[in-house]
Amino acid sequence: MDGLAELQAREEARFVEAHPRSRELAGRARSSLFEGVPMHWMRKWPGGFPVFVQEAKGARFVDVDGHEYVDFCLGDTGAMTGHAPEATLKAMTDQSAKGITLMLPSEDALEVSAELTRRFGVSAWQFALTATDANRFVIRLARHVTGRSVILVFNWCYHGTVDETFATLGPDGVVRARSGNLGPPVDPAVTTRVVEFNDVDALERELAAGDVALVLTEPALTNIGIVHPDPGFHDALRELTRRHGTLLAIDETHTICCGPGGYTQAHGLEADVVTIGKPIAGGIPAAAYGFSEDVAARLTGRIELEDVDVGGVGGTLAANALSMAAMRATLGEVLTADAFARMIPLAGRWTAGVESGIAESGLPWHVTQLGCRAEYLFGPDRPRNGAEAHAASNAELERYMHLFALNRGILLTPFHNMALMSPATTEGDVDRHTQVFREAVTELAART
Ligand SMILES: Cc1ncc(COP(=O)(O)O)c(C=O)c1O
Repeated sequence: MDGLAELQAREEARFVEAHPRSRELAGRARSSLFEGVPMHWMRKWPGGFPVFVQEAKGARFVDVDGHEYVDFCLGDTGAMTGHAPEATLKAMTDQSAKGITLMLPSEDALEVSAELTRRFGVSAWQFALTATDANRFVIRLARHVTGRSVILVFNWCYHGTVDETFATLGPDGVVRARSGNLGPPVDPAVTTRVVEFNDVDALERELAAGDVALVLTEPALTNIGIVHPDPGFHDALRELTRRHGTLLAIDETHTICCGPGGYTQAHGLEADVVTIGKPIAGGIPAAAYGFSEDVAARLTGRIELEDVDVGGVGGTLAANALSMAAMRATLGEVLTADAFARMIPLAGRWTAGVESGIAESGLPWHVTQLGCRAEYLFGPDRPRNGAEAHAASNAELERYMHLFALNRGILLTPFHNMALMSPATTEGDVDRHTQVFREAVTELAART
């Protein structure tokens, strides 16, 4: 876009000037942190260096330069509960005084798993520290129980840093390592089939080979913009996986945004396995994966007692007492039906605000809502699959929109254009975003 570089330079100068303390810390960080950040993907924040956080509470945080922000990133879903929710805080404080990690169960494990069963339907739960680990363990166990070697994912999916899922579909229909895939252990074409989301014919063709242990999918894609399933897609997915003896794992890590039981409960899905992480313990590392009764029965007795600790499914700190207490409080008192009843309409308000800004500006963009999550994309039409969504992404525009918002007290995720509502988010927060977004697109449309 003509004119974008000039606007970007203006915003970068504004950012640097307003953040002297963050800039100083970022400079010092270079002497002891690889490329100056504690986690490599933090380089993605716009502005040349990340803002350093002083404190966060509810839907807001304050940086070390004293600026307050409305946080729509919310730790890319890890803090969808709002920052430091009171009930979780209290449970964590109480539990940490009584022991943090023991390698023994506490009663909280029973409460948490019963609640997860009530919400997601499947009834044999295990715990991990991250959704990545939950997905990795599910893949291993699915291979073990089916005796099959490959898994199937949808193009441009994201399920964490899981080797088998870092595969995309080339234009020639051949599976390739996703661009940027660092040091893949083997060519992902060996481990993974990839088809486009909503492509029932391709799904049927790939499952018919009879060697697919597991389909791992989000019920709606959320990691390449938002891609909704076509009407009937989930019925076809369920019918085909059953017909071909393939397990179906639904990753609810992001789609918990659809309600207390995620997309699964909201749309009556029947998964063989459900995985979830990120917000379920209010930001304390915790994740869970649950099997249906049928899969659990098939697994029972198929893992030797002598090998249960070294079979590739593990984690010394998994199911620790602190995570369990945090999960119990978060599920019981924070991510409640009442909270979703407030959060989802807020995402509707955010979406309507962005929609009106797009319409006024005439830019060929669109916005999509999924529960308490919403996202805009730089193309006129809703994508039906990952390839269409990927084609509508634009890294430069994204960086610009994020920095423009950040400079005006609004935080979006550094990856695509996602906004999440927490129980603490207000209509005023949403309207502030609408105002800033409108300002950005009006200027962009006039200059480009
Ligand atoms: C759908 C989905 N599953 C799993 C993960 C992995 O979560 P984590 O990085 O906390 O392991 C992500 C991360 O973005 C995700 O979006």
